Amino acid sequence: MLDLGKLATDLSAVMQPVGQAKGLPNALYTSTEAMALERERIFKDGWVCIGFGKDAPVAGSVMPVDLLGMPLLMVRDAQGTLRVFENVCRHRGMILVEAPGTVPGVIRCPYHSWCYSHDGALRATPHVGGPGVNTHDCIDPAKTGLTPVRSGSYLDMVFVNISGTAPAFDDWIAPLRSRWADFEGRGVHHGSSFRLQVACNWKLAVENYCESYHLPWIHPGLNSYSRLEDHYHIEAPRAFSGQGTVVYNPRLDPDLSFPNFDGLPEKWDTGAEYVSLYPNVLIGIHRDHMYGIRLDPVAQDRTIEHIEIYYTTPEAATGGALATLREKNAAMWKEVFIEDIFVVEGMQKGRGAPNFDGGRFSAVMDSPTHCFHDWVAARLG
Ligand code: FES
Ligand SMILES: [Fe+2]
Repeated sequence: MLDLGKLATDLSAVMQPVGQAKGLPNALYTSTEAMALERERIFKDGWVCIGFGKDAPVAGSVMPVDLLGMPLLMVRDAQGTLRVFENVCRHRGMILVEAPGTVPGVIRCPYHSWCYSHDGALRATPHVGGPGVNTHDCIDPAKTGLTPVRSGSYLDMVFVNISGTAPAFDDWIAPLRSRWADFEGRGVHHGSSFRLQVACNWKLAVENYCESYHLPWIHPGLNSYSRLEDHYHIEAPRAFSGQGTVVYNPRLDPDLSFPNFDGLPEKWDTGAEYVSLYPNVLIGIHRDHMYGIRLDPVAQDRTIEHIEIYYTTPEAATGGALATLREKNAAMWKEVFIEDIFVVEGMQKGRGAPNFDGGRFSAVMDSPTHCFHDWVAARLG
């Protein structure tokens, strides 16, 4: 049983200044009840990333998503607008769409064939008034469309707020948007995808991404050209945190490079930033590409990382001339993210130690991680 009294005490210890604070308690990594609490207070009440616009690329695209047992459906309508609905028929609650694809015309429920248009409107209710009678006074189509879910998007990442109670999306995303105003208004073009399964709680993936402290030991390759001392902390309390480097200097190929975003300020020539946007997306941004990692928190000790890499032009993203360079870039990032797996899984195992007290933070090196813990504690407290 999750002891809510003890949890409150533990969370207040987390919300101390970084030098005095403890980390989040073991239960938040190991207990199904804690996961259920996070499902309500973090994943339902706040903004959370459920996918990418490229997952529903054309008019009529449908993409079902399961978020901790909450079935959602991304739909691209005829005008190109991406919408999100609960993926459930308003008749008897059948799951509407089981697999991604393109559905021209209407979305038909496989049970009794009620049909919905891509904007969610109920369009057909065959035999609802008896054989051959397709309407009935009891069913008002105007009140029986698909249930819309608030959504918004940034750099092709799609976010939802299921409860409908979070602040407006534009207000929520504004701090990161203004930090990265240099990239505003530029299209990003999808190039590569891969996914990794990790045997750890989703928060450990966030925590590890927040800090550069582990670079010398976990990423010796990366550290050989972008050293610990080349990094700085990024902290926006209760919103996001991470790290940046002043030495972004990829050496994938002596003769080829990706085109940069046009007209970026000079600091991006050699700079790059890596941010955990709470709760579940890890972003890397560079002058010539960006990536988003959506963390799917499938269980308290299991997370799927969906990695999507984007480039600055359609040609860079899909053209033949840079295909090998794209493969090298994806392989380089994959190697880095795989290097992190043994530590996040090792920290998960460590949470089984009954007397582990959440651990301590280096006041100098771990403050972006503490920034995230403070956010979690505030959301759950
Ligand atoms: S449950 Fe969908 S039509 Fe009956
Ligand atoms: Fe790492």
